[in-house]
Amino acid sequence: MLPALVTAASCLLATAAAVPTHGKSHIETVFEFPNNSFVENLAVRPNGQILVTVLTSRELVLVDPQRPGHSVLVHNFTDANGLTGITEYEPDVFAVATGDYHFKTPNWGQGTWALWSVDLRGVKVQNGALVPPPKVSKIVHVPESQLFNGIALLSKKDKTLLVADTKAGVIYRVNAKTGDYKVVINSTETSPLQTPHGVNGVRIYGDTLYFSNSGQFEIFKVRLHEDGTPAGPFVVAAKAKTEIDEYDDFAVDHDGNIFTSTGSGNSILKVSANGKHQTIVAGSLNSTDVAEPTSAVFGRGPLDKSTLYVTTAGGSAVPVNGNIIIPGKLLAIKTHSRA
Ligand SMILES: *[C@@H]1O[C@H](CO)[C@@H](O)[C@H](O)[C@H]1NC(C)=O
Ligand SMILES: *[C@@H]1O[C@H](CO)[C@@H](O)[C@H](O)[C@H]1NC(C)=O
Ligand SMILES: *[C@@H]1O[C@H](CO)[C@@H](O)[C@H](O)[C@H]1NC(C)=O
Ligand SMILES: *[C@@H]1O[C@H](CO)[C@@H](O)[C@H](O)[C@H]1NC(C)=O
Repeated sequence: MLPALVTAASCLLATAAAVPTHGKSHIETVFEFPNNSFVENLAVRPNGQILVTVLTSRELVLVDPQRPGHSVLVHNFTDANGLTGITEYEPDVFAVATGDYHFKTPNWGQGTWALWSVDLRGVKVQNGALVPPPKVSKIVHVPESQLFNGIALLSKKDKTLLVADTKAGVIYRVNAKTGDYKVVINSTETSPLQTPHGVNGVRIYGDTLYFSNSGQFEIFKVRLHEDGTPAGPFVVAAKAKTEIDEYDDFAVDHDGNIFTSTGSGNSILKVSANGKHQTIVAGSLNSTDVAEPTSAVFGRGPLDKSTLYVTTAGGSAVPVNGNIIIPGKLLAIKTHSRA
């Protein structure tokens, strides 16, 4: 169930995404999902439109920050039940993780996770639909999968991805062209230890992989070889001060500062590049302003490159104050940084 789809297409064709300007707060709602939507992750198209995945839905949707309040269906993954990681692996072509995930049971869809390719080249919004329809094809189903989560592009040239398996506590390398896959990192730092969740968000900057481990309440970084295996020691880049801050997906700015979602911390936390300073840039523990954030990505256009787009689950897993659940959202948060 999604709110009414966009009908006025012309506004969506502009190339540079602007931050919605109504209101005074530095936090704006770009799109509100139905209540109890665990909005999970996002990726920005070269034209500024945003693809959003929801863990409690099989529908991949597109939202345009220039048209807040509207969404367009990109694809309905009818043989899945939830969507997690998403990343661009060639210009306007995205990899998406899908699985038979059931939030309430809970059943994490062990053995069902797959990666799909969603090709949006030349695809525009017209009368509330995508024209021509995006080309969607399965990259690979991974029977050994337990819970696929964050995805990062390892090599543009080879079209290889790193994919976090949160429950198994490992990172796979997947070739988006051939579907070949292999576990390349399986370490204490990626493992869940005694908790349900290990490695969660993954981002690669230069030759360095950053990854969050939700169960260990830490973000690590490690230099990589070209094949995605570790080329040096794991270093703690961020360590939560309390176990309320469950680091999820995050963005790293051009100075190496980390902007991480804190899940049940209900905030976006900026961690300095040296790991020593932590500042809340939006939200707070007992506020619904940034209710249960799950991921963060900087905009790509000249007007929104300092804007952090943040997905939120609205407290559907851990209610704010223990009892408040609001609809999951896509937020635009102004910062003084950029990717
Ligand atoms: C997606 O598929 C599901 C199950 O087949 C269906 O219930 C739902 O209405 C579909 N969504 C859209 C937007 O067509
Ligand atoms: C990760 O390593 C552990 C310990 O060596 C092993 O038991 C486990 O099977 C490995 N997991 C995967 C998915 O390779
Ligand atoms: C703030 O939220 C925490 C975590 O849900 C809760 O334990 C605490 O009681 C809340 N504090 C207030 C003042 O509501
Ligand atoms: C969302 O769901 C929660 C609990 O299921 C309920 O308390 C709340 O009123 C709902 N909010 C809206 C806007 O429907």
